[in-house]
Amino acid sequence: MNKKTGIVPGSFDPVTLGHLDIIQRASGIFDEVIVSVLTNSSKKPLFSADERVALIEEATAGMNNVKVDQFDGLLIEYARKKEAQAIIKGLRAVSDFEYELQMASINRKLDDHIETFFMMTSPAYSYLSSSIVKELARFHAETKDLVPDCVEQALQHKFSQNDK
Ligand code: PNS
Repeated sequence: MNKKTGIVPGSFDPVTLGHLDIIQRASGIFDEVIVSVLTNSSKKPLFSADERVALIEEATAGMNNVKVDQFDGLLIEYARKKEAQAIIKGLRAVSDFEYELQMASINRKLDDHIETFFMMTSPAYSYLSSSIVKELARFHAETKDLVPDCVEQALQHKFSQNDK
C-alpha cells in the first residue's frame, strides 16, 4: 500500500501548542506528516523562515514520522510535488470556517485528488493564535502554557533584543 502523507501548512510565526496538538494527532493517522512553513507570506513575520523551521524541528523532535520543510507559491502545487494525499488544517472556531472553506474549495478546484482534512483544535487551545502569543510576549507577559519551551525562550530573546 502507498504511504499516506499529510501536509500541515501554515505561517507558524511562531508555532504554538495549538499547532503541535494538530501535528501530533495527525501523525497518529498519517504515515508521514510534513509541517510546511510558508516563506512568501504578505504578512511581515517576527521570525525568519529558517528560525520558524528550526523551532518546529525542536518542538517535534519526539515525533518520528514528522518532517519540517518550507515552501513558497501555491500550496496545492507543493502538495502535488510532495506526493501528499491530504492537506490538514486545524479549526478553532466557527470564525475560522469561512476562510478555510474558501481555501479548501480553491485547492479542490486546482487539484481534486488532494483532500483537505479539518481537525477540531483541542478545547484547551481554542482561543490560541500566533498573533496572541506575540502580543503577550511583546509586553513581557507569560507564554509558558501556550508555546513549547524553545519558542518561549526565542520570544523572550527576540523582545529583549527589541527593547535595547
Ligand atoms: O498559518 P496561516 O497564515 O493561516 O497559513 C495560511 C496558509 C499558508 C495555509 C495559506 O496562506 C496558503 O496555503 N498559502 C499558499 C498560497 C496558496 O496556495 N493559496 C491558496 C490558493 S489562492
